[in-house]
Amino acid sequence: MTKELFDKGIKEGKIVAYYLFKDLGVGTGCKYFIETGTHIGNGVQYALDAGFEQVFSCEFMQDRYKECMDRFVDNDNVSLWLGTSVDCIPEMLKQVDEKACFWLDANRRLMTWYSFPAVSSAWVLIKPIG
Ligand SMILES: C[S@@+](CC[C@H](N)C(=O)[O-])C[C@H]1O[C@@H](n2cnc3c(N)ncnc32)[C@H](O)[C@@H]1O
Repeated sequence: MTKELFDKGIKEGKIVAYYLFKDLGVGTGCKYFIETGTHIGNGVQYALDAGFEQVFSCEFMQDRYKECMDRFVDNDNVSLWLGTSVDCIPEMLKQVDEKACFWLDANRRLMTWYSFPAVSSAWVLIKPIG
């Protein structure tokens, strides 16, 4: 993450961690955005706004999953799974045939994550396919 992007994120009042997508996922030809830990869907929305063609996400808490199913009911390019990342990632990967950006964000440390967003850079991976 560049200082410029970090400063821009702070200025716009956004969760700065999402700017990592601009460094790593956006503009690098990734067709898929694959997230673990859907929560309330903000990562999914960011990926849609950033222009990813297909957005996959999984969440193991049923109420959060259902909430996001409602939130993205009109988005045909969003696929959501209910279950743990360990169970869902293999299912997601069955549908991945091109380059993907992985946002591995399934964790129970929400407060820490929001307090220190830059720390979550450790959870971002890029996986080239093919
Ligand atoms: C930090 S929040 C995710 C925030 C979201 N990715 C975003 O960018 O807005 C973490 C979420 O991961 C979920 N979670 C935790 N462990 C999980 C697991 N093993 N499998 C799937 N989801 C998990 C939690 O229930 C929580 O909703």
